[in-house]
Amino acid sequence: MCGIIAGVSDEEIAPILVEGLRRVEYRGYDSAGVATLHDGMIEVRKDVGRVGELEDSHHVSGMKGKTGMAHTRWATHGGVTTANAHPHPSCHGEVAVIHNGIIENYLELKDRLAAKGHVFASETDTEVIAHVVEDAYAEVHDPIKAVLRGIKALKGQYALVLMFSDRPGLLIGTRNDAPLVIGAGKRERFLASDVLAFISRTDRAVFLDNNEIAELTPDGFRVFDLHGGQVKKPATQVAWELSDVSKLDYAHFTLKEIHEQPETVIRAMMQEPKKLEAFAEAITGAKSVVLTASGSSYHAATLLKNRLSKEARMRCDVVLSGEFEGYEHLVDGDTVLVAFSQSGETADVLEAVKKGRERGAKVLTAVNAAGSSLARESDIVLLLNCGPEVGVAATKSFTAQVMVGNMIADAVVGQSTAREPKKVSAQIADVLRLEGRVREIARELSNRTDFYFIARGSHYPVAQEGALKLKELAYVHAEGMPASELKHGTLALIEKGTPVVVIANSQEGFDSTVSNAMELQARGAEIIGISDRVNPVFRHFIEIPSANASVAPILEVIPLQLLAYFMATERKNDPDYPRNLAKSVTVK
Ligand code: F6R
Repeated sequence: MCGIIAGVSDEEIAPILVEGLRRVEYRGYDSAGVATLHDGMIEVRKDVGRVGELEDSHHVSGMKGKTGMAHTRWATHGGVTTANAHPHPSCHGEVAVIHNGIIENYLELKDRLAAKGHVFASETDTEVIAHVVEDAYAEVHDPIKAVLRGIKALKGQYALVLMFSDRPGLLIGTRNDAPLVIGAGKRERFLASDVLAFISRTDRAVFLDNNEIAELTPDGFRVFDLHGGQVKKPATQVAWELSDVSKLDYAHFTLKEIHEQPETVIRAMMQEPKKLEAFAEAITGAKSVVLTASGSSYHAATLLKNRLSKEARMRCDVVLSGEFEGYEHLVDGDTVLVAFSQSGETADVLEAVKKGRERGAKVLTAVNAAGSSLARESDIVLLLNCGPEVGVAATKSFTAQVMVGNMIADAVVGQSTAREPKKVSAQIADVLRLEGRVREIARELSNRTDFYFIARGSHYPVAQEGALKLKELAYVHAEGMPASELKHGTLALIEKGTPVVVIANSQEGFDSTVSNAMELQARGAEIIGISDRVNPVFRHFIEIPSANASVAPILEVIPLQLLAYFMATERKNDPDYPRNLAKSVTVK
């Protein structure tokens, strides 16, 4: 969940690191820090808050040195304090480390090292890494050997980078169940948790696998296995379009990404026909199909599950990745496991896939990040092609997943959607033109504390998605539920003025959904209708174009994304960086 970038260059490294750090800030933003190596000394500047604040208060881009590392934190062990911010130097200042992940046995290691005289400056699990490696380095005097020895003592999940005060121009990085990528530029090399961190400097990336150790100098890199043997790693050319992570004229990335969705649907449909065919064939030929994902990706996966069971008449399940453990006994060699993820680095999803694989399942994936761990561990990968999503809330990636899910379902049932993307794109553009109306509603309702979102059938995952967006962006309690469930309990919570968003599709359960809305209205609820058909029960109404059941969820979700966005801005929240969250949830 933390963002890492480290680099060795023949130029001053700090400004390069600060720019890279801003690009991975979506991964965590509790605190930030930079360390550089200059004249045999490691200097560390760090503080709580965002990268911009660190730059303003500590002028980190002016730090001297051509070897350095930078980190943006999402706190796990230890509060949000300057002492707990990374980088962490060892007590003698000989080693510094940045880390993304969790060291499970850190207390045991800390006790052991403290007994040897090591003094700790933070409450973090990460700091022990610096001390463990410093301890080993004092004995073996070789950075690679010291790191090899050090990581053998660590239990947990990590992507980490180390530098040594007496080794200018050298960085060592390694990973276990957390992403780490080498950027191989001209006379400079990087280690980062995401290609985005160094894409403005180089488009040549080398994706490290678990338990590989990389040694970087400005001129080259070498990769070793756990036994110290050298491993050949080819470089991949990554798309330059990734470098386009500016907000353009939009106030926030989230708003920009919401507005990109007319293009998202077109790009999502640019799939290699052979791959799509193989994906669909694997599903059709499987004895059981299980979909797995987390958060918004789970809602998109649920839509695919609904189509497969309804239209292809397949028995299939959708399981939250974090709950996969209770389900895995039903997975075997005749199962196809379909994982949905934007980042491809969500720890719960990777764990579910690992469990599925161990039980013999074939793994198919729809993912946005092409070089991600999930993409690399899957048998067939369909890319979402929606470009980098910087806003922490999933918006365009959800839409891309629904679109790719539709293509999968269409291929399974033998239906063609070839003519659709332009039409859907135009319909999305029409919905986006309702932004002003949604903003007015958000303004009127911005001080309400509880929202409910209801829908039926294939629209229910949209209600869940709308509630999730509102919670994470506006910090408002929200629940998404099937309209039919209200009378089984939730109705007791409805009071005068309780806002209820009613998603009612004219082609599926419209009358019964409207009846539920009337029951709510009779108890004082203020109904916000999202529908292709007007009804007097709607106190506020967002009219969306009519579309079939597979496309309607996309048109319905856009006003809900906008509602959450404007509720957030009305409430003075930063929609791009919601509190306590991070985009890539790489811890379990
Ligand atoms: C919600 C959101 C999260 C992610 C979830 C899964 O707006 O962004 O709920 O959907 O963390 O992330 P990925 O799709 O990267 O696996």
